[in-house]
Amino acid sequence: MCADIAATKIFSIALAGGTTPMNAYKQLIDNPARYPIEWSRVQLLLSDERLVPANHPDSNQGQIQPIFSHTDAQCIWPDVSFAMPALTAQAYEQVIFERVPSVNKIPQLDILLLGIGPDGHTASIFPDSQELISPSERLVMPVTNAPKPPPNRISFTLRLINASKHILVLATGEQKAPVVKAVLTQEKSALAYPIAHVKPDQGSVLWIVDESAASQLPQSVL
Ligand code: 6PG
Repeated sequence: MCADIAATKIFSIALAGGTTPMNAYKQLIDNPARYPIEWSRVQLLLSDERLVPANHPDSNQGQIQPIFSHTDAQCIWPDVSFAMPALTAQAYEQVIFERVPSVNKIPQLDILLLGIGPDGHTASIFPDSQELISPSERLVMPVTNAPKPPPNRISFTLRLINASKHILVLATGEQKAPVVKAVLTQEKSALAYPIAHVKPDQGSVLWIVDESAASQLPQSVL
């Protein structure tokens, strides 16, 4: 990644929210000798955000901003001051179009980090959402009924997700083991899980799981 960043004019990384990746973000920042990243060439985005003030404990930006504030990475966070999820989504989509270089008319993220929930959601795409039945043409979508509180969010759509160059899926803990197994062994039931719909057009997907999350995987997959 470090070499890719050095070779790229601006490197777009979209970060996952939730709790799983926070320590990994801190590791990246606290070990510059091990991870010599030219942060001035990096712009950071969020793959989803909860529509709460940035100083609210549920805010992804609120958790992530302090970690990266010691770098000179450019932070491109959603403007959560809009009351309506639809307006917030539309505004963020416009910013992404302006700031992230497109390939085949879709902004292409260099790296996208995604977490997964025990129900197989990723970003803020939840099971039974319309996005799984007829994926949106948009890049960012409003979410008003998230089963994982808070209910009002915005989320990258599958269209933007699957246009990424490199996707890293992070999963830790026993709770995630059934989803990890179903998706990585391509069980038919896996399509109920939004994370199973993450199939980049040209890019790569790398799953980074701990022993607990991998505990149900057969040897053939390990
Ligand atoms: C969010 C996240 C969400 C998260 C998963 C896993 O804003 O809720 O983006 O998709 O990655 O729910 O959350 P944990 O890492 O806390 O288990």
